[in-house]
Amino acid sequence: MSTCENLGGWKRTHYCGEVSSQEIGKEVTVMGWVRRARDHGGVIFIDLWDRTGIVQLVFNPESNPQIHKIAGSLRSEFVIAIKGKVRKRPEGTENPSITTGNLEVVVENIKILNEAKTPPLELDAERIGEDVRLRYRYLDLRRDKMQANLLLRHRVTQEVRNFLSSEGFLEVETPFLTRSTPEGARDYLVPSRLNPYSFYALPQSPQLFKQLLMIGGIDRYFQIVRCFRDEDLRKDRQPEFTQIDMELSFAEREDILNISEQLMKYIFEKILTVKIETPFQRITYHDALSKYGVDSPDTRFSLELKELTPIMKDSELKIFRQAIKKGGVVKGINVPSGSKLLSLKAREGLIEYVRQFGAGGLAWIEVRADSFHSPIVKYFEEDALKKLEKKMESKPGDLILIVADKEFIVNNALGNLRLKLADELNLIKGTPRFLFVWIIDFPLLEYSHEEEKWVALHHPFTSPKEEDIKYIDSEPEKVKSKAYDLVLNGCELGGGSIRINNRLLQEKVFKAIGIGKREAYQKFHFLLEALKYGAPPHGGIAFGLDRLIAIMSGSESIREVIAFPKTQKAVCLTTNAPSSVNEKQLEELHIKLDM
Ligand code: AMO
Repeated sequence: MSTCENLGGWKRTHYCGEVSSQEIGKEVTVMGWVRRARDHGGVIFIDLWDRTGIVQLVFNPESNPQIHKIAGSLRSEFVIAIKGKVRKRPEGTENPSITTGNLEVVVENIKILNEAKTPPLELDAERIGEDVRLRYRYLDLRRDKMQANLLLRHRVTQEVRNFLSSEGFLEVETPFLTRSTPEGARDYLVPSRLNPYSFYALPQSPQLFKQLLMIGGIDRYFQIVRCFRDEDLRKDRQPEFTQIDMELSFAEREDILNISEQLMKYIFEKILTVKIETPFQRITYHDALSKYGVDSPDTRFSLELKELTPIMKDSELKIFRQAIKKGGVVKGINVPSGSKLLSLKAREGLIEYVRQFGAGGLAWIEVRADSFHSPIVKYFEEDALKKLEKKMESKPGDLILIVADKEFIVNNALGNLRLKLADELNLIKGTPRFLFVWIIDFPLLEYSHEEEKWVALHHPFTSPKEEDIKYIDSEPEKVKSKAYDLVLNGCELGGGSIRINNRLLQEKVFKAIGIGKREAYQKFHFLLEALKYGAPPHGGIAFGLDRLIAIMSGSESIREVIAFPKTQKAVCLTTNAPSSVNEKQLEELHIKLDM
């Protein structure tokens, strides 16, 4: 049995980090965790921590031998409460790196509220293995960085609520136990006990409910809402994540882009005191792919992709010629001073890198004062090389990197190479720290080679542009949608669209993606029914809250801004979910496992 005490009526007067010079000479009661203890020739100093920071406690053997003895028994992460008198620290012993660095509390009374085993992770360490952090997340949460991230997250959600409420949005909750909403991922299914052999799907987003809310006259809706998607996880993807979800009635694209810009400006200026310029730059989907290779471009640096197919089409180089003949393209990027910055070995590494995106290789050409140097220059006429230099806007010392292949492979390989180079060559610096870009004019549909059919590029409730509706059946690739994505520093932060509010058009779009009338009514009868009863024009957007906070806090992964995230394998290391369940639970659900 430990000798731990209860609070016994003690009331905290101050948080550790909030004891200030005003309290000098006064008595305070503070509570928290023992972070560090130092014995300086009899006098014991303890750093007491709570979520606001640290305050230094002093235990003097002469003035209070009994209390001093207790201090000697304290270990890291013991939970204590103390009463003591605040005094100015002796000159020369101040610590300017903490808010309470000019004072200390001379302890007069102490209670040990709980003991702690030696923590399995060092709370002050810079680098700790992520598995240990996630297993002991409650300890990891005591680290300053995690505290700061969760505080930031709290402040952002508060300000989102303030802003949207002041703009007339109502916060409405929508069900978690629902039908499948197609957002392009697999569903998490929940078996129904009361309705044997039936399943709920956890929502991939509240998409259809927010549309029903518009039909229900709510006019402006928002929700800070958990979404569930069973998909391959990455550093910016979790199986359950949070959206700032919005929908507006009687609104057009410009209204939604405008309110979104105002929201982002408000949050960044209010919380980070960073000025955000509006309106945000807009790039069409087509231009994003052609210039940056990806649909969520980081435009904080240049290294743009340039089309070289016409210049390269007559070259003697077989791989280029063949790629073009097969309908492929040749594109390049110019790396300023790359001849010097990227050694031959580094270039080998880049060739390996682009291979993972399906590219056969990566050619390089060094631009010199009056010549070109590369194993492949012999295959080109002088004239072609001159045109190449002009097109790439190269200067002596630059390095041109070229990929020839099918267009999507070239874009993907060079688009990712561009990001890698920016990182390695430290090209992203200076202002603006936060660069927002709208991607607009998406195609409505894209052909899925896997499913051998047309699928919705966003979701099937996105409206096509009026002028393109006529092509839906005959030339689906021509149809542009009223969708938009918001990209921040190369990360897809949000996406939305103007929706279809006409039943016949909705049926037509379903048909284009292979959902016949009968299947459409089976799956989405509630939406198709609702569209018969006066659906106002409406549209909306959803932002990834986890991604937003990760970028605002400068975190590498969204796991850093989620209290209890899951691993790449969708496991919660804290609770060990998912786990097996007992026979009885399965029986009640009429489930037999085929093991
Ligand atoms: P979308 O599928 O584009 O749109 O999602 C909106 C935003 O949510 C974030 N996001 C994720 N964040 C973390 N982990 C994930 N697995 C994950 N998946 C998506 C991204 C993304 O931009 N219903 C539509 C919105 C609408 O049309 O209004 C939707 O869900 O930041």
